[in-house]
Amino acid sequence: MSDLKSYLTERCAFTDSLLEQWIPTAETAPATIHKAMRHSVFAGGKRLRPILCMAAAEACGGSKEAAGPSACAVECLHTYSLIHDDLPSMDNDDFRRGVPTCHKVYGDGIAVLAGDALQALAFELVVKTEATSRYNAAHLVKELALTAGSLHLVGGQVADLEGEGKKLPLEDLRFIHENKTAALLTTSLKLGGMSADATAEQMQALHEFGMATGLAFQIIDDILDVTQTTEKLGKSAGKDMASEKSTYPALIGLDASRDEAHRLTQKAHDVLAIFGAGGQRLQELADYLLARDY
Ligand code: IPE
Ligand code: IPE
Ligand code: MG
Ligand code: MG
Ligand code: MG
Repeated sequence: MSDLKSYLTERCAFTDSLLEQWIPTAETAPATIHKAMRHSVFAGGKRLRPILCMAAAEACGGSKEAAGPSACAVECLHTYSLIHDDLPSMDNDDFRRGVPTCHKVYGDGIAVLAGDALQALAFELVVKTEATSRYNAAHLVKELALTAGSLHLVGGQVADLEGEGKKLPLEDLRFIHENKTAALLTTSLKLGGMSADATAEQMQALHEFGMATGLAFQIIDDILDVTQTTEKLGKSAGKDMASEKSTYPALIGLDASRDEAHRLTQKAHDVLAIFGAGGQRLQELADYLLARDY
């Protein structure tokens, strides 16, 4: 198995080559919307959700090629959520992925529409996945739709907005983080599993792994907002305190937040047991998400 760094580089490049092929070119009319979509998608995200999607497929005996459409679908859905998250009426951020946010370059109206179009594209892409004996396009669409909607990603973002200026109970913050972030991470893994015809037991393990690493991931995001610079993050640091968001560091402090992220990552390791040696890459990825510094 290649080392993690070259693996991540290779998987990023593979994801980007598919996205390049499947997102309309910048010249396609109306050019403004395609330029705006590409501005945000190709600004240099870490591509963690596609990488998890493909790694889950491989842990279940599938391939990165078969998982490719789902990998790109979750990246499009994620990028849409970032464009809308950054809007003045939401987190009001000027920088994302090291460049000015979509609305700063193209205006609010086009940014809203670029998000809308990326969300629609996610569904167009996920149905490119080949059916297996257990899963067809309807199963994949349902998985993606549920995670994107008011019960998960959108619901989490609503609770996040409504929580501004309040010191929420930890239980409510956990609800926000599980829904705005962990749900899509979990779906990324499960769509990968579906592309590989995963068994019910494998899908359950991917679900538990995703919810644990996904919550840890958002706790680390909250920590980095406090401890890192804007340059390193490629997005404005220190925003959560300025917007009076409830975050793990704000509610329980930095040390307890780090401990909780470690505990969740250990829990994620434990559920990988059913994959045997095939779960090694997912285990390395969980450690990488915990140790990341941007
Ligand atoms: C940022 O996600 C938004 C959160 C859910 C915390 P990432 O840290 O994966 O952002 P990119 O895709 O690398 O830009
Ligand atoms: C965003 O959470 C989660 C999304 C669904 C986009 P944050 O608001 O903390 O993400 P960043 O810090 O802006 O990337
Ligand atoms: Mg937000
Ligand atoms: Mg934000
Ligand atoms: Mg954040």
